[in-house]
Parts: sequence; C-alpha cells; structure tokens
Amino acid sequence: MSNQLNIRNVPTDLRHWIRRETQRSQQKQNEFLITTLRQAAQLSYTPPLPFDLPLGRATNEERLPFSFIDLFAGIGGFRIALEENGGKCLFTSEWDRYSQRTYSRWFGEMPRGDITEIHPSEIPDHDILAAGFPCQPFSIAGVSKKNSLGRLHGFKCTTQGTLFFNIATIAEIKRPPVLLLENVKNLKSHDQGRTWKTICDTLEELQYAVFSEVIDAAGWVPQHRERVYIVCFDKYLFGDAPAFEFPAPPENSPKFEDILEQSPDPKYTLTDHLWGYLQEYAERHREKGNGFGFGLADLRGVSRTLSARYYKDGSEILIPQARKNPRRLTPRECQRLMGFPDDPSRFPIVVSDTQAYRQFGNAVVPKVASAVVRSILPVLRGQWERQNKGCLLKRPIPELEQAAV
Ligand SMILES: C[S@@+](CC[C@H](N)C(=O)[O-])C[C@H]1O[C@@H](n2cnc3c(N)ncnc32)[C@H](O)[C@@H]1O
Repeated sequence: MSNQLNIRNVPTDLRHWIRRETQRSQQKQNEFLITTLRQAAQLSYTPPLPFDLPLGRATNEERLPFSFIDLFAGIGGFRIALEENGGKCLFTSEWDRYSQRTYSRWFGEMPRGDITEIHPSEIPDHDILAAGFPCQPFSIAGVSKKNSLGRLHGFKCTTQGTLFFNIATIAEIKRPPVLLLENVKNLKSHDQGRTWKTICDTLEELQYAVFSEVIDAAGWVPQHRERVYIVCFDKYLFGDAPAFEFPAPPENSPKFEDILEQSPDPKYTLTDHLWGYLQEYAERHREKGNGFGFGLADLRGVSRTLSARYYKDGSEILIPQARKNPRRLTPRECQRLMGFPDDPSRFPIVVSDTQAYRQFGNAVVPKVASAVVRSILPVLRGQWERQNKGCLLKRPIPELEQAAV
C-alpha cells in the first residue's frame, strides 16, 4: 500500500471540523490528520469536548457552566431561561429593529441581523443552540392567510419556511451538543405531517437524537398556549438514547386574575363601536355554527393564546369589567401573561403598544423554556461526570474509519 491517501466525498461537516481543528491545533492539515488517524488506530481517540468545563464533579445542586446562542431571538425568551440556569450567551441574531430595541435594552447587547446573511463560521462554538424559528408559514393562521393570497407556505415558502435549514446548516457546521427549538403545535400536522417529517429526518441525518413534545404553558402561566419543543442531543457525544425527559407542569397553575393591573389606563377599554362590531361578528359566526369570536377571559381560569395579532382588536383575550365595555390586556399584563419577569426597571417596555403586543405574542414562555432547560442539564452534567472519571464518552468517527481503509 502506498503511503498516500486520497479521500473523496468528505462530508461538509467533517471538512469544516478538520479545518477548525487544524487551525486550533496550529498544525498543518496533513500533520493533524495523521495524528488523528494514529490516535484512532490506537483506539485512544477522545475528541476535545466542545465545552470547556472546570475540573471537578457537578452535583445536582451546582450550576453547570454552559454557553449558548440565541437565534431568532425576538425579545430573548430563551435567553432569560438559559441565563437563569447558568448559561452564557455568546451570539444573538434577530432582524426586527423593534425587537432589537427591546433586546438590547434588556440584555445590553444588540443582536446581529438577518441570519441568512451570517456565515456559520462567524458564530462561536457553543453548547446549546436555542431557536424559536419563525412560525408564520406553519401556523394555521399563517397557512390560511398565505393560501388565500395564493402564496406558498411551509418549506415551499422560499424565505421564512426555509429558515429551519439555516439552523440545520449551523448545527452541521458548529456541531453544538444540544439543540433547543420551539414552534407552533401546528408544525407537526402541517402539510399532512410532511414538514414535521422533513425536520425530524434532517436532524436525524445530522446524527442528533431528537425528542419532541407539545407543551401547554398553562401549567406555568394562566394562558393556554401549546407549543412544540424539540430537544436534540449530538449522538456522537451522548449516544443514541440520552436519558432525557420533558418536564411535567407544576401542580398549581396561576389564575388569570393574578396578572391583572389594579388601575389600567382607560384607553384599553373597548370603544362602543369596536365592542358592537365584535359582538355582531361573533353572532354571525354562531349562526353559521362555528365558534369564531371574541374570548371573554375567565378570571379564575386561564386565557386563550395571546397571538402576535393581539394589537389589532384584542378580541381573543378580553377582560370583563363591571358596568363598562370589556377591555384588552395592557402590554405589561401581556408581559406577565407570557411569564416574563415583572420588573419594570430591569425589563421595561421600550416600544409602542403595537410592537409590544407583537413581541409578546411571538415569544416563547421563559418559564416553560426554563423547565425544559432544567431537564437538559442533567444530561449535560452526566457527560461531565464521565469526563471527570476519565472515561469521556467515546465519539466514534465513522467517516475517519472509512477514510483509513
Ligand atoms: C417566533 S419569533 C421568536 C421569538 C423568541 N423566541 C422570543 O422569545 O421572543 C421569530 C423571530 O425570528 C425573527 N426572524 C425572522 N426571520 C429572521 C431572519 N432571517 N434573521 C433573523 N431573525 C429573523 C423574527 O423577527 C421574530 O422575532
């Protein structure tokens, strides 16, 4: 056998990894590959862990230091959840300038813009990739609106729907150990399940173990809000079946009346004109036998889902008032209803009512995201413990084995 090796069809992720590791080890590519192959041949290959943890043993009470990136960041619902569990944010992308304004006020950092314009190599290595990717092409409202406009939706929508593939490309190139994604529940049934299958297949092909669950935020906040959470673990690091389980909701859910302001501005009370219109509209639909219409909130229960269109008429969540027309929620009540911290000095509302309604209606509920993060951390912690016992998870590199033959 000659002492030359010529490898064809090297997968993109492996090429990027080789380039990155070559630079990091300050070797020539040839030297790096020979060292790596030699280590593999001696069966002593242990890859560098993608996150740099101090030595020691993490107990359940201790915080595990980890890093994350916040994509499609909105106003940082994921960031709140990850930071409160010990995460350090290394990179953020959000292109909407009003959301950027809120985000930079709340976190002291201006997000980068359009993710499609950012090359993955510009993104630092990180442990968790968090992304509530845009749901408009997948949500029922988005689909019917786009259908009625004769436009394509889901993956066929050439802009918004394909943003998932930007996440997939970043995952392929950066290989974050964990992905934490969130979307509308309807993502699972969109296009007769084909969109969901494409997403899961793509993540599986990237060698991630995929877990998903529809979680109703109503256990944590007084709002019925079902969202699908997708948590993925790099199989090379965690094996094919990491011990991950989604959290169960807390036992005592809060009541809608708990989030109400004592003396809201009268401008939030519906005008006679709008209230009359909403009642008429509901009546017309009742006659046709469907349930469209406004929703008067049950003060002792949970509200309907706050949508990004709440600013239009607020009809999905109205608050009954004695001897007055009902009123809509104030932006601060929306902040509470979404479970964002209720601290006006640290998290002030710095945009118009319209933008604030849109931002909260689009956001992830940080309390739910935080519960999911708390379920992810033991899996990361387990790996850390193995590392410290000197038996780091072996990461088989099938491509390298093939290349060596
Ligand atoms: C469903 S929201 C996510 C909200 C976020 N999870 C939160 O808690 O606020 C999706 C966000 O993606 C942003 N977005 C859409 N396309 C984008 C792109 N190409 N680059 C960066 N951000 C984008 C939207 O402006 C929107 O804020």
